[in-house]
Amino acid sequence: MRTTLTTLQKMAKEGSKIAMLTCYDASFAAVLEAAGVDSLLIGDSLGNVLQGHESTLPVKLADMVYHTECVARGSKRAFIVADMPFGSFQVSPQETLRNAARLMAAGAHMVKIEGGRPMLETIGFLTDRGIPVCGHLGLTPQSVHALGGYRVQARGENEAQLLLRESKELEQAGAGMLVLEAIPAPLARDVTAALSIPTIGIGAGVDCSGQVLVLHDMLDVYPGKKAKFVKNYMRPAGSIHGAVELFVKEVKAKAFPGPEHGFSA
Ligand code: KIV
Repeated sequence: MRTTLTTLQKMAKEGSKIAMLTCYDASFAAVLEAAGVDSLLIGDSLGNVLQGHESTLPVKLADMVYHTECVARGSKRAFIVADMPFGSFQVSPQETLRNAARLMAAGAHMVKIEGGRPMLETIGFLTDRGIPVCGHLGLTPQSVHALGGYRVQARGENEAQLLLRESKELEQAGAGMLVLEAIPAPLARDVTAALSIPTIGIGAGVDCSGQVLVLHDMLDVYPGKKAKFVKNYMRPAGSIHGAVELFVKEVKAKAFPGPEHGFSA
């Protein structure tokens, strides 16, 4: 049976952790599902790990549509989320809707949009028209140049309060799920407690409703620099299926992420 947003929201309410991994093709979609992954994210991280770019900024909507189609063809069970790439949603709500519709037609069940307050109107516009939206706060990689690099966010009290407020505003605007990237673990815990939608953490501590990692990072096949929050699952497991199974097991048991994968305030 297909995992839906309702399934994930119920899991979050019941305290049953959600395991999400990025996925970019049909073969991996089948492997990840067989190992128990609940949700597949066609992340624009494909710009780094598949295309070899230094950032996600060059990723085109057509790339995301293509990879979403590939994943959807290989998937039978997981909830599929597709990233809206840079430039595809910082336009009018109407144009964003046309772009999001291409990802939904390609097989996504939800689109993910980076950013807080400036995105509220667009998120409301999309969700009012039947397109589920996942927010993304904290380290938003498409803003790498504005943020001055890939660094931990919301460490100061004012920044933390703003992120907490923005997370509530995203939920009120209609967001059905929220990715929290590279923020202090206590802040992610407070955000998760304040929301009724699931939070998916990456470098945000163990108290989020679920966890996501970039597949090529956790399989240790990406040659670039790894963030502190990445765990190499290939080393202990020795096979792709084993690595993904171990990730799922550790997420469900709240054994990943450990304190060594997170950030303090
Ligand atoms: O693009 C991506 O892989 C992501 C995750 C890091 C959450 O957005």
